[in-house]
Amino acid sequence: MRSDVTLRPLDENLLQGLLDVAAADANPLEVMPPVDGPAGWTTECRTAFLQFHRSRSLSAEPVESTYAIVVGETVVGAARLFPLKDVEHAVEAGVWIGRSHRGSGVGGVVLRDLLDLARADGVERLFASTTADNTATQRLLAALGVDLLREGDVVTAWVDLVDVR
Ligand SMILES: CC(C)(COP(=O)(O)OP(=O)(O)OC[C@H]1O[C@@H](n2cnc3c(N)ncnc32)[C@H](O)[C@@H]1OP(=O)(O)O)[C@@H](O)C(=O)NCCC(=O)NCCS
Repeated sequence: MRSDVTLRPLDENLLQGLLDVAAADANPLEVMPPVDGPAGWTTECRTAFLQFHRSRSLSAEPVESTYAIVVGETVVGAARLFPLKDVEHAVEAGVWIGRSHRGSGVGGVVLRDLLDLARADGVERLFASTTADNTATQRLLAALGVDLLREGDVVTAWVDLVDVR
């Protein structure tokens, strides 16, 4: 397991670094909801990215916790924990990592760290959803020993934080 990967709570300073790595090393659709207009990292798309994180995580009443994924001292992606309204003590996890840092074990460390953060916050179950072609996410979840539910193009899993360590 890599020891150079850390999660840092997002702040304005880290947000600028996060936008830089997203624009340089990821597709907008991998890191944020779709934005109307031309594809790619347009000015509108960059503004929407900042607004997305400010409104959800940096506002006076945040709806989720977001962390910058840092390798050494370099921001390489983001991880989020979104409390679910309809399920008690449950969160949904979201992760993206810049292309040039994928496939080298960062995601595995991030998922373990997210589980620890959620557990420390009193969360009992973590939900994850991905697409059928996202092998890396499915392997990360399968490594936790949880069942993956496949429905069409969507694959979901629940991680019991009381059991999985
Ligand atoms: C999904 C993601 C977070 C995984 O992080 P990562 O750092 O690339 O993953 P790791 O290097 O820790 O690898 C995890 C597992 O997936 C496998 N894997 C990694 N990339 C893979 C690829 N492109 N194809 C197939 N398997 C892959 C690894 O071999 C490893 O499996 P193993 O432990 O059984 O050997 C990252 O690839 C990413 O950000 N992708 C784009 C955004 C995204 O899909 N986010 C998740 C949406 S639900």
